[in-house]
This record gives sequence, structure tokens and C-alpha cells, in this order.
Amino acid sequence: MDNMIKKTKKRLMWIFAILTMLFLLLFVVIAYIAVSNSILSDQKEKAIEMISNKSVSHLIHEANEPYERTKGSLLAVVTPTGEIVHRHGESIDNIIKGWTPDSLESREIDEDNREYLFVAKPIEAGGYVYSGVDITQQKEVLNRLFTVLILLTVLFTFAAMGLSFLMAGKAIGPIINSFKRQREFVNDASHELRTPLSILSAGLEILEEEEENHLSEFSRQTVNDMSAEVRRMTSLVNDLLLLARSDSGKLVLVKEKFDLSGLVSRSVRAFSKVVQDNGLSITSEIQENVHMSGDRERIQQVIYLFLDNAVKYNQKNGTIHVRLTSTEKKVYILVKDSGIGIPPEHLTKIFERFYRVDKARSRNLGSNGIGLSIARFIVEAHGGNIEVNSTVGEGTSFLIVLYK
Ligand SMILES: Nc1ncnc2c1ncn2[C@@H]1O[C@H](COP(=O)(O)OP(=O)(O)OP(=O)(O)O)[C@@H](O)[C@H]1O
Ligand SMILES: [Mg+2]
Repeated sequence: MDNMIKKTKKRLMWIFAILTMLFLLLFVVIAYIAVSNSILSDQKEKAIEMISNKSVSHLIHEANEPYERTKGSLLAVVTPTGEIVHRHGESIDNIIKGWTPDSLESREIDEDNREYLFVAKPIEAGGYVYSGVDITQQKEVLNRLFTVLILLTVLFTFAAMGLSFLMAGKAIGPIINSFKRQREFVNDASHELRTPLSILSAGLEILEEEEENHLSEFSRQTVNDMSAEVRRMTSLVNDLLLLARSDSGKLVLVKEKFDLSGLVSRSVRAFSKVVQDNGLSITSEIQENVHMSGDRERIQQVIYLFLDNAVKYNQKNGTIHVRLTSTEKKVYILVKDSGIGIPPEHLTKIFERFYRVDKARSRNLGSNGIGLSIARFIVEAHGGNIEVNSTVGEGTSFLIVLYK
């Protein structure tokens, strides 16, 4: 559970940080485009003005004027007879070469390490006129602006990440509290229920034993049913209590070295009646003298949980096979059934709390979907893990891997 909260918090933080970064980037792009457009359109106007409303002879005259008098602007004319007139160097020849505009056109041009904004248009009588402004300086300012904006984006993204971490913590606070309260409630409620349940069960036991002969058939049946229900409820309450304890980290494992071979064979024996009553059969293959250190009762509980499932989710005349093997460091307990199997898409989910593949069927079997989550918790608390293999309609095998 704590893991889930941490994951959610992290996810919230990333979502918030990524959103902020996207907004910042969008802002940077829009700001840059707006500023560069406004600066460049000023320059373009300047270039257009230079060639507007002027006669060809006037343009040729200006194109021949000394460069200084044109305040840094460039001008070139291709006369109707094809003669090129300008007072600039070779670079402008390169710029206008092959550029024959159909109407007013503009281009940004890199030449000799300088940047120019050029406009050009055809002359009515034939030929073309080109005028350009040097925008090297403006481009430099824009580049610097771009760098500053990107640096600011990076800086603000880090700030936003810090901020989002705080915000995610704040947002998740109430959820943590409510989880805590819920946990405490489950813990307290299971505790409170244990006493009345044990009183009920003791009372029913006395009724069953001492009053058996005085009871009518109907009453005896009722007492039997009640005992079965009380047992079921006791086991559910115990499961819930165990889960509540596992959540709050209060579950203490009593570790000791014990004879696992004996435990597994006793478990198989303990189940043989239930197996028979359900029209199934059980076989086992148990390596002798396998010892492990762990909480014997909890390991027994795990084996029972898997055997219980193997019985519940089996098919008519089905079989169950239990195998215990070991290596130098590890032990392997396999519980294999010839049951209904688990569809692949459910395989990762069956270990989640209250998850049942077929709810209708499970309800009839009186199952709550917590067996496997308890089994996984206990096995992982021992440093082990559980592997599952299943084919629908053929059966399922669970392999519990534990350390000696
Ligand atoms: N051996 C199996 N064969 C087929 N399906 C299984 C098997 N073991 C578990 N399942 C599926 O996984 C689900 C979860 O199992 P789990 O033991 O956690 O809960 P449960 O058996 O439904 O209830 P509980 O064990 O709490 O009484 C089951 O409802 C069942 O759908
Ligand atoms: Mg179960």
C-alpha cells in the first residue's frame, strides 16, 4: 500500500512537472516567434520602402551611389537590357544570381558570415530590382533572447519539479490519512469481532457435544450450519487481521528451523478428506528431511491456501499433485491441479486483494479473493517468491520458492 502511495506521488509529480515544462516551452516558442516577427517585419518594411514608388532611372541612380550614403542598405538593379547595376562587392552578385521574382518576394540570406533580409520585385519595363538590409545584429539579439529563454525554461522546470513534489505531497496527504484510518478500522474491527466469534464457537461446540441427543434433527442441522458459518467468519476475520497487520508492518514472523517435509506431508494428509469429499484425488512426491528456517505456522497457512484453491477450482474427478524438492539453498513447493485454469490476462492480478477471476463462481464457493494476497505476503516476508503457470481448462500450478 505504501508502495502504491509512493508511486502515485511520483506520478503526480511527473505529470505536474511535464505539464509545466510544456507550458513554458509553448510560452518560449510563442514569445520568440512574436518578437522575431516584429523585429524582422520592421526591417522588411525598410527594404521595401527603398524600392517603392521609384522610377527605373532613379533606382539605377541610387544603385550607383556610394555605399555609405545608403545607410547600410543594399540595392541592385537588373536593367531591362539585362545589365546589372550595383555598387557592392561580389556577394550581392551571388545573392541575386538566378533570383527572378514574379512579384514582390522576400528572402533571408546568409552571405559572408552576415545575414541579410532581401526583397525583390520585377520592373514593369523588364528587369528586376533587389534591396536588402543587414540583419546580422538583430539576429544576434534574437539568438541571445532564445538562449536566455531556454535557460529560463530549464531553471523554471527544476523549480516546478520541486514545487510539484511539495504539491503532490500535499495532495496525497488526505489519502494517506484515510488509508491509515481504514487500516486501523480493519484492525480494530477484526480484533473486536474475534471475541464474540470465539464465544459463539465455544457455545456451539458445547451445544453440539452435550445437547446432541436432546436436539431435534432440524435443530442439529441448524447448529451444524451455524458452526460452519462461524468457522468461515473466524477465518475471514483472521485473514483481515493478518492483512491489516501486514499493512502496518506489525506482523512479526516467528522464525525457527523446522522440518518442512513433515509439514508438507501433514498438510496433504489434512486435506485428503476434503479432497475425497469433493470427488478429487491427491498425490504427493515429498523429498525427505528438508528443513528450512521460517515461521512454521505461516508457511503451513500458505500451503493450506494453495491446497484450498486447488480443491475449489478443480474439475470433476480432478487431481492435485504436491511436490517438495530442494537445492542447497532453496526449497520448492509445487501445488498442481487439473482444474479450470486461469486466463492469461488474469494471471498478474490474482495476487491482488479481493481479486477473483469468476465472481459468480467464487461467491458460490464462499471465497473472498484474499487467499493469494496473504500467501504472497507471507512468502515475500520470507524472502521468497511464487511462480504461476496455468492453462485454461487444463489446470494450474503454483511454485513456491523459499530459502532454507
Ligand atoms: N488453482 C486455481 N485454479 C484456478 N483459479 C484459481 C486458482 N487459484 C486461484 N484462482 C483464482 O484466483 C482468484 C484469487 O484466489 P484467492 O485464493 O486469492 O481467493 P479466493 O480463493 O477467491 O478466496 P479466498 O482464498 O480468500 O477464500 C480466485 O478467485 C480464482 O478465480
Ligand atoms: Mg483461495
